[in-house]
Amino acid sequence: MLTAEMIVIEGGTPLRGTVRVSGAKNSALKLMAASILGNGPTTITNVPIISDIAVMAKVLETLGARVSRHDHTIEIDTASVDKWETPYELVSKMRASISVLGPLVARFGRARVAMPGGCNLGARKIDMHMLGMQALGVQFKTDHGFIEATTPEGLHGAYVSLDFPSVGATENTMMCAVTAQGTTIIENAAREPEIEDLANMLNAMGARVSGAGTSIITIQGVSPEDLHPCQHATCGDRIEAGTFLVAGALCAGPVTVEGIDPSFLRMALMKLQAMGCRVECGEDSITVSRMEPLKATDIQTLPHPGFPTDLQAQFMLLCALADGNSVISENVFENRFMFAAEIGRMGADISIDDHHAIVKGVKGLQGTAVKATDLRCGAALVLAGVYAEGTTTVHRIYHIDRGYEDYVGKLSALGANLRRVSDPDSEW
Ligand code: UD1
Repeated sequence: MLTAEMIVIEGGTPLRGTVRVSGAKNSALKLMAASILGNGPTTITNVPIISDIAVMAKVLETLGARVSRHDHTIEIDTASVDKWETPYELVSKMRASISVLGPLVARFGRARVAMPGGCNLGARKIDMHMLGMQALGVQFKTDHGFIEATTPEGLHGAYVSLDFPSVGATENTMMCAVTAQGTTIIENAAREPEIEDLANMLNAMGARVSGAGTSIITIQGVSPEDLHPCQHATCGDRIEAGTFLVAGALCAGPVTVEGIDPSFLRMALMKLQAMGCRVECGEDSITVSRMEPLKATDIQTLPHPGFPTDLQAQFMLLCALADGNSVISENVFENRFMFAAEIGRMGADISIDDHHAIVKGVKGLQGTAVKATDLRCGAALVLAGVYAEGTTTVHRIYHIDRGYEDYVGKLSALGANLRRVSDPDSEW
């Protein structure tokens, strides 16, 4: 077993400079799953070097694909895929493993994927994934902890109306519909930029998808033989970009993030401005700086283009240090306020009432030992440590490694004083 590591931060250093964001984790994972449809060697570039990508590579290898990686380019040859089962061992490590369900069914008419258990962001069901694919002719049964999908009468186009614009359900239904006979229309589809990125790759493989990025996606089915491998570049990671912009806002900046389309982050940029920051956008870059104290603001997380739940913890940190009181409402996931308890240990004043957090601004934070409870909580705790007085240690940083490539290196380059060391206390 690898020795666990922690991040040790000496707070109080200014941050300024330029950081290049990696490719989007939430895009690259689905692009990798979609490569199954290509039945040959697909190349995906701008893939972040993070542990979730390694799990997805393992998922594909378990199915029989050959995966090779050189720096930020990954080649996946899916011609040799001859298995349809994804075990619990991988699904429990990463829920996004279930995104192979749609492409497996579209190419082979069958799939067997372990049911994801509960996770630390609440129940996170997959009922909408199943309802979407059922409308296309997929039959599901549960079997000893697995979901088994078959298509006794083939796949056919259909109207699919999602209860909620779920990212995962939209993607799985879209990938499944690519080979369904006739036309599929997904209504109330998720509009995240990563969905558009996936649709672009599917089209490069020979699929016929239109409307991605809007709430109505139309897919004209093609036959599996019409699909072929392709080359595709992953879009920039808007959540990583937003995290570094928060770092700049926190420590006054200026901090520039490069490799990101500013239109992916409109709502978050508006909130930075409302909090007293100056924001300047280039074609694929954003600069944030701040000359005045942070102002309190209210935030509610919503599906894109609303405020992203994946930036909620980082903005909670800003609100915790703002002048006045802020209310943050979490509308996407239940149980996503674990950050509040950890940052409370550093001196923040936050109370939780159901899905609302009432954040009373404090003058400063003090360094102490804290633990990452999920990916975004971990990233925000490191930023808190960069700002806080004294030394902060962040434990359980495997959460951060799931989604941030070289987080410590990138923050160091901006001027932070932090390092990874082995964690002597396994109790964390
Ligand atoms: C994706 C992102 C995650 C982001 C989230 C919302 C990936 C790998 N992860 O997760 O980082 O926070 O979008 O932007 O892309 N739900 C159901 N039934 C379903 C599906 C979802 O009830 O069948 C619920 C979930 O429990 C959750 C909400 O819908 O409360 C949103 O989930 P969804 O949009 O599907 O998120 P993910 O695709 O899991």
